[in-house]
Amino acid sequence: MISAFINQIPVPKDIPLPLPMPEWVLIVVLVFSFLVHILFINLMIGSSILTFWYEIRGKKNNDFDRLAREIAATITVNKSLAVVFGVAPLLSINVLYTLYFYSANALTGNIWISIVPWVAVSFLLFYLHKYSWDRLSDNKPLHLSILGVGILSFLFIPFIFLTNINLMLFPEKWGEINGFFEAMTLPNVFPRYFHFITASMAITGFFLAWWFGRKQFKTEGVFNNLSKNWIRKQMLNLALIATGMQFIFGPLLFLTLPSQGITWTLFWVIMGGVTIAIIVMVQLWKLLNDEGHLLGKRFFIVAGMFVLLVAFMGTGRHLYRESTLQTHKEMMAERTAAHWEAVRLAHENLLLPPVDGDVAIAVPGQNLFQTNCAVCHAANTRLVGPAMAEVAQIYKDNLEGLKKWIKEPGRKRLDYPAMTGFPHLSDQQLTEVSKYLLQEQWND
Ligand code: HEC
Repeated sequence: MISAFINQIPVPKDIPLPLPMPEWVLIVVLVFSFLVHILFINLMIGSSILTFWYEIRGKKNNDFDRLAREIAATITVNKSLAVVFGVAPLLSINVLYTLYFYSANALTGNIWISIVPWVAVSFLLFYLHKYSWDRLSDNKPLHLSILGVGILSFLFIPFIFLTNINLMLFPEKWGEINGFFEAMTLPNVFPRYFHFITASMAITGFFLAWWFGRKQFKTEGVFNNLSKNWIRKQMLNLALIATGMQFIFGPLLFLTLPSQGITWTLFWVIMGGVTIAIIVMVQLWKLLNDEGHLLGKRFFIVAGMFVLLVAFMGTGRHLYRESTLQTHKEMMAERTAAHWEAVRLAHENLLLPPVDGDVAIAVPGQNLFQTNCAVCHAANTRLVGPAMAEVAQIYKDNLEGLKKWIKEPGRKRLDYPAMTGFPHLSDQQLTEVSKYLLQEQWND
C-alpha cells in the first residue's frame, strides 16, 4: 500500500542550499507573522462585508449609512497593515517549503499570478468606494456595486492562496492536477475557505465592538438614534454567532483533512483550541448580558482568549502541514542523497587513473592538468573536449606542438566548441602539463 502510494509521488531532489537561519526561527516567524497578517486580512474582509450590509440598510435609515461609512474608514488602514505583515510569511514559507510552495504555484500557474491584478483591482475599488461616498450619495446602486465588485475580487484572493497552500500538502496529486480548477476540487478546500470567512466575521465583530466602544468614538452628531451600546451589542452578537458557526465548519474541515497527517498531538492541540472557543463563547454571552460593562475587564479577557485560540489553531495548522509532508520529505532526502552519490561516482569515473602505486605523487603537471583541463577533458570519455587517450596519441612525438596548442588552440573538430587558450601559463608550466599529458597511461 505504502509503496503504491510512493510510486505515484513525483519526488524532486532538494535544493542544496542551507537555510539562512536556524529552522525553528523561520518556523516561529512563519507561524506568528502569518497570524498577524491574517488578522488584518480577516478585518478587511469582515469590515468590507459589514460595510456593504449596513450601506444597504442605510437606504431606509440614514444612521446605518453613517455606520457603514465609519466601518469603511477602517478597511484601507487594515489593508495596508495586512500587506506589510504579509511579506514575512510569504518569504518564510518560500524558504521553508521551497519545493512544495513552488510546485503548487507552478501547477496553478496563471491563476496564481492573477493574484497581482486581483489585489490591485480590489484595493483600488475599496479606495474609490471610500472616497466617492458623497459624490455618489444619490447613486447608491453604483456606489454599492463598486464595493460589491471590490469584495468579490478580494474574496477570490484568499481562495487562490488557500487552494495553493492546500495543493502543497498533496505531492501525490501533483501528477494528476491540471491547473487551478482541479486543485480547487481537492477535499478540504471549501471547508477551509468557509472556516476562514467565518473567522473573519467573528474577529471583525469583536474588533468593531472595541472600535465603537472607545472613549474617543462619539455617537453624538454622527447618528440620530443609534447608541454606542446598540452598535457594540450588534458587533458582539456577530462575534458570538460566527464563533458558534465554527462548530460546524471546524469539524467539517477536520473531517475532510486527509488522515495521513492527523496525529495525536495535532488532535490535542485542536481540542485545546476548541475548549478555548467554548470558553470564549460563554464569556461573550455573559458580556452581552452585562449591559453596563460591554467594554470592561471581561472584554479584554475574551480578547486574550481569542489570541490564544488563534495561536492554538495556527500551531495545529503547522503541525498538520509538517506531519503530512513528513513521508515526502524523507523520500526527498533519500532522493537527494542518491543524487549526490551518483554525482560523486560520475566524478570519480571521469577522474584520471591513479598514478602508479597507492600514494598519489604530486606531479606538477598533474596538478596543472587537474586545475586547468579536467573540467573539459576526461581520460577516455568525451566531455566538452575530446578524450585524453585520443589526443595524447596525436602529439606523442610533438611536445612543442602540444605546448603551442595549449597556449593558443586552433580550431579543429567541427562537432566540438573551440577550446579556450592558456596564454597565461609560463613556458615551464606548459612543458610540465604537456609532459604529463604525454606520459600518462590514459587507456588503463
Ligand atoms: C573549456 C573547455 C576546455 C578546457 C578548460 C581545456 N580544453 Fe582542451 N579542448 C577543448 C575542446 C572543445 C577541444 C576540441 C577543440 C577542437 O578540436 O577544435 C579541445 C582540444 C584539446 C586538444 C586536442 C588538440 C588537437 O590538436 O587535436 C588537446 C591536446 C587539449 N585540448 C588539451 C588541453 C589541455 C592540456 C588543457 C589544460 C591546460 C585543456 N585542453 C583545457 C576544451 C577545453
